[in-house]
Amino acid sequence: MAKLTVKDLDFKGKTVLMRADFNVPQDAALNITDDTRIRATLPTIKYILEQGVKKLVLMSHLGRPDGKVVAKYSLKPVAARLEELLGQDVLFLNDCIGENIKKEIAAAKEKVILLENLRFHAEEEANDAGFAKQLAGLADVFVNDAFGTAHRAHASTEEVAHYLKSAAGFLLEKEIQYLGNAVQNPQKPFMVILGGAKVSDKIGMIENLLPKADAIIVGGGMAYTFLKAQGKAIGNSKLEKDKLDLAKSLLEKAKSLGKEIVLPVDNVVVETIDANAEFQVVGEEVPEGKIAVDIGPETIKLFEDKLKSAKTIVWNGPLGIFEMDAFSKGTEEVAEFIAGLKAVTIIGGGDTAAAIAKFKLENKMTHISTGGGASLEYLEGKTLPGVAALSDK
Ligand code: 3PG
Repeated sequence: MAKLTVKDLDFKGKTVLMRADFNVPQDAALNITDDTRIRATLPTIKYILEQGVKKLVLMSHLGRPDGKVVAKYSLKPVAARLEELLGQDVLFLNDCIGENIKKEIAAAKEKVILLENLRFHAEEEANDAGFAKQLAGLADVFVNDAFGTAHRAHASTEEVAHYLKSAAGFLLEKEIQYLGNAVQNPQKPFMVILGGAKVSDKIGMIENLLPKADAIIVGGGMAYTFLKAQGKAIGNSKLEKDKLDLAKSLLEKAKSLGKEIVLPVDNVVVETIDANAEFQVVGEEVPEGKIAVDIGPETIKLFEDKLKSAKTIVWNGPLGIFEMDAFSKGTEEVAEFIAGLKAVTIIGGGDTAAAIAKFKLENKMTHISTGGGASLEYLEGKTLPGVAALSDK
């Protein structure tokens, strides 16, 4: 990595400010329902603590409170979970800037401190220099381990890095290594699996990866805009009309590059989307009045056949409505198939990571990204502001 990492810094006696992505899902009672992102930062937190630091000040956002204090977006539950996971006291402070916060940090008996949600201040998302300077003023050195937020140019991810020596944490480094290697230097055959509802979300990724990949395998809602562009009947399946011409041109581009965009050849269809809806398997053409909700068994076989010799697989987006058990088969069977391959398997975050967790295959993939939007933007070939701002080696 061209940027400083925690291994390059001397933390002894220092107060360290660390940006994490503790934007975790919670239920209505504010219980954390998935603490993957908190656990993913533990190696960096533990390493920093082992270096004899004075204090470790952690900061994050949670949800989108839009610059206002919104009780349900408090990071307090995260402090409690972190305390459990670290087996050590964590002091939670009810704001992230100001003289009082500075004093409380200085007076704290606890080594680990978590600040309140950065997005309770509008200046955070505005990448405000004054706010970033106040954050920087809390510590001697800055560490960014928030890969999930690295695509946002916010005060705590971007601007703050201009005022302190700034290094990547282990999670950020690992994400960049896996995702970066996969797209810059993939072992071939390199296969990309794309799914999810919308073609528009994946255009940048297709354009960036088409020249590099051997094939792009497409399922999920986005497949039907491509099928429609090929003149196939798609019934009432998801269609982005304004993306039809683009889908056509991507199919033509693939052809001219000698690459394949592999589309479903059969489909699971329903009349209305409901977990208990009656369903049937139809061929490539979806009958009028029906909605495709999953890929069919022939498509699963076709996808597996394309994937079996792959050395690198990047997967972003589920292949059907996996949240409903009846329509999760395509996503589940393909996930199980690639879990059994020797290939390097890289799972983009968000829904795809949630699907892999649902099927309990987390330990069978090479890397599961903790970033949804961030992994997407990185795979689109974009520069992530949170990474770019870190100090060069
Ligand atoms: C995420 O969950 O993708 C990150 O935490 C970023 O959150 P945001 O989309 O609200 O900026």
